[in-house]
Amino acid sequence: MQRSKSKSHASDLVFKIRRFRPVDLGRVTNVIREVYPPKPRRWALATFRYHVRHQQAGIADGRTFFLVETNGNIVGVFGTHTHIWGPPDIAWASWFFVAKRFHRSRYALRVAELFFARLQSSHIRRLYVETYSAHPDYSLIAGILPKIGFVLEARLLNYVQSGVDMLYFAKDISRL
Ligand SMILES: CC(C)(COP(=O)(O)OP(=O)(O)OC[C@H]1O[C@@H](n2cnc3c(N)ncnc32)[C@H](O)[C@@H]1OP(=O)(O)O)[C@@H](O)C(=O)NCCC(=O)NCCS
Repeated sequence: MQRSKSKSHASDLVFKIRRFRPVDLGRVTNVIREVYPPKPRRWALATFRYHVRHQQAGIADGRTFFLVETNGNIVGVFGTHTHIWGPPDIAWASWFFVAKRFHRSRYALRVAELFFARLQSSHIRRLYVETYSAHPDYSLIAGILPKIGFVLEARLLNYVQSGVDMLYFAKDISRL
């Protein structure tokens, strides 16, 4: 793909990763509104509002989100969700997006790298992603996951509707 000359490449910029805080909700909401189609937008916003309500009440909801920023601007967001009843070293990815102005500059790959490096200092050793095959709202991610080290491990046939499967991808965080 021919990239715009005015666009900075990921390697030109300084990226910082940090934990999401309730005060970030407004800016994260703006990014979600610009990148997701209506249905996933609704679910992503509901997840973040739910998370913030729990953070403010001092209740763990099993989710941890990280923001990657450059010059104070949000580049991308990636999170995990650990089941309260599940093994503590296994987590599920919980939303992954890049702000629109940074799309198609390989920033998704950079955001993911920083996120995985950060997970290495946590108790999480295996990260799973569930996503749909051939679904218009999530069409890109199944193609991107293998590029950031995920392996397709299982497929639940016709989960959403006939011809749209649930795909399960996994990545071993202890072997980066
Ligand atoms: C999916 C998303 C994170 C990709 O971010 P990005 O920064 O534009 O992606 P990158 O530039 O790092 O590209 C990563 C790879 O995906 C490919 N890609 C990215 N956008 C693409 C598009 N619109 N069409 C086809 N391929 C695309 C790139 O070509 C690249 O592959 P390559 O290494 O073979 O060239 C971004 O489009 C997004 O935030 N979408 C909305 C949220 C979403 O759908 N999240 C996933 C489900 S939670």
